[in-house]
Amino acid sequence: MSAVYETVLKCYEHIKTRIPFVPRVAVVLGSGLGAFAENMQAEAVIPYSEIDGFPVSTVPGHKGRFVFGKIDGVPIVIMQGRVHYYEGYNVEEVVLPIRLMRQMGAEIVVLTNASGGINRLFKAGDFMLIRDHISSFFPNPLIGENPEELGVRFPDMTEVYNESLCRLIEDTAREYKIPLKQGTYVQLTGPSYESPAEIRMLRMLGADAVGMSTVCEAIAARHMGMQVCAISCVTNMAAGILNQPLSHAEVQETADRTAPLFQQLLFASIAKM
Ligand code: HPA
Repeated sequence: MSAVYETVLKCYEHIKTRIPFVPRVAVVLGSGLGAFAENMQAEAVIPYSEIDGFPVSTVPGHKGRFVFGKIDGVPIVIMQGRVHYYEGYNVEEVVLPIRLMRQMGAEIVVLTNASGGINRLFKAGDFMLIRDHISSFFPNPLIGENPEELGVRFPDMTEVYNESLCRLIEDTAREYKIPLKQGTYVQLTGPSYESPAEIRMLRMLGADAVGMSTVCEAIAARHMGMQVCAISCVTNMAAGILNQPLSHAEVQETADRTAPLFQQLLFASIAKM
C-alpha cells in the first residue's frame, strides 16, 4: 500500500464511527465563509485536532473542523477552515483533507476561496466562478510516489472544473440574481501578497484572479476522479491596480460583507447537486 493511502486510511479509521452518513458533496470553506457551516443543522462535528496526524490551520478566521449535515436532503461534509502551504505544511499535507473526504465517499467537491482580482473588469466583492487554473507557480500535490489506490500517475487536467456543475452554479446565480463573473485562477504560495510586476505578469499569462489555495486541492480531487467546482470571492483588487496597499484586514472585511450572498449561492447550488 502507498504511504499516502495508508495515512488516509489511518485518519479514516480514526473517525469513521463518528461520521453519520456517506457525504455526497465535500465543501471547502475559504476566508470569511465559516458561518456557512453554522447556518446548517449539524449532524456531527469532528475537530481536525482530534484526528491523529492531521494538519491544523493557524490562520485567524479559519476554524479547523469537519461539519456534517444535509442541505435539502443532500448529505455534505464541510471543511470549516483549511490549511495552507504557507503555514509550513507540505503540499501532501495540504491535500490530505480532500483525500479523506473522498475516502468518506464524497463524489463532488465544492471549493471556495478569497482572491485578488487581476482582471480590470472585476471589483472587490465580485464572485468569480473558476473555469480553469494555472498551477505552474505552485508545487504539484501529486509529486512523489503515486498512490495507485487513489488515481493514475499522469491524470488529465483538460476539464478540472466540471462543466455541468459550472452550469448548475451559473443557473443558480441567475435564478437568485447574484452577479457571477468567470475566469482563470492562479495559485501562488504566499504568504506575501504579489508585487505589481507579478500581477502584470500573471495578467499577461491569462489569470483573472490570484490566491493562495484551491488549485492543489482541485488537482488532488481530479486525480481521484471527483467532480470539482470552485467559486472565488474577489476580496480586493490585486497589487498595483488601485493606488492602495493590500491588507488581510481588507480581505477579511470584504469576505465578511459578501458572505451572506455567497452562502445563498452555495446553499442553493448544493441543494441541486
Ligand atoms: N493575492 C493573493 N491572495 C489573496 C489576495 C491577493 O490579492 N486576496 C485574497 N487572497
